[in-house]
Amino acid sequence: MSVVILTGASDGIGAELARQLAHQEGASLQLVLAARSADKLEAVAQACRAQGATVLVRPTDVGVEAECRALVADTLSHFGRLDTLVNNAGMSAHALLEDVPDMAWCEQLMRINLWGSAWTTHAALPALKASRGRIVAVSSLAGLVGVPGRTAYSATKFAMNGFFESLRVEMQPHGVSVTIAYPGVVATDIRYRGFNAQGQAAGQSGLDERGAMSVETCARLIREGMARRDRDIVMSAKGKLGRWMKLIAPSLVDRLALAALQRDVRPH
Ligand SMILES: NC(=O)c1ccc[n+]([C@@H]2O[C@H](COP(=O)([O-])OP(=O)(O)OC[C@H]3O[C@@H](n4cnc5c(N)ncnc54)[C@H](OP(=O)(O)O)[C@@H]3O)[C@@H](O)[C@H]2O)c1
Repeated sequence: MSVVILTGASDGIGAELARQLAHQEGASLQLVLAARSADKLEAVAQACRAQGATVLVRPTDVGVEAECRALVADTLSHFGRLDTLVNNAGMSAHALLEDVPDMAWCEQLMRINLWGSAWTTHAALPALKASRGRIVAVSSLAGLVGVPGRTAYSATKFAMNGFFESLRVEMQPHGVSVTIAYPGVVATDIRYRGFNAQGQAAGQSGLDERGAMSVETCARLIREGMARRDRDIVMSAKGKLGRWMKLIAPSLVDRLALAALQRDVRPH
């Protein structure tokens, strides 16, 4: 039996990852699905149960520390162990910093993307050490290269990388693996829900959505990478190239990023 906590499981990449894990592992999977929307979590749970998985739906706002800690405590009291924690819950944002009138929402974004992962992981460490388990952090290519229009979002993902890279080394002697996934543009509703400059749901994407990776492919890459305990999952050829180009020709990367921003919908 393998017990997996998956945050951000009500939609997008997390929901698809839950369905794929249930399809692959069936009755040997005990899954804890966390996000804020209980109804949507229940629908994902039904699909996973149909594959034989045992599922606990645990509505959670990862922007609240006590809820992150309660998520882990409830998992342990329900299933008695924890093998894998997938920190996937996250929000997006798209705005030029000069257009932001009040940065309160940037702080909230950090609370969700960084602190939600950090609080949940901290609470889960003793159980993960006991099982020699796995930690997965879903970052972003915007966490590898600073992207114009994404100051707040990129900051949250760079911060996640620092946290989980350090933790990876700390956990090595305990047999706990840390896998960081770096999706590029994936076809979910994340950009429509993300914050605009005013801190409201954008309602439109600030990116060119053509050529977005399918959510099925993204979830499969994460599933395969976590099974192998990969160090990093860099998702697209552009992402892999960008990572090296940043070391070799950083100003060229800046120019390409600026040109991409000017091609895309200019954020308001
Ligand atoms: N899609 C992309 O292009 C892309 C690219 C790079 C990285 N990523 C990362 O991949 C992860 C998943 O993104 P996605 O595209 O699947 O987004 P999505 O479709 O918008 O799903 C986001 C998930 O996170 C949950 N969530 C948001 N705020 C939360 C909160 N405060 N507490 C608990 N759960 C919360 C949402 O559920 P509720 O609303 O029900 O809470 C939902 O289940 C994110 O970390 C994102 O940054 C995505």
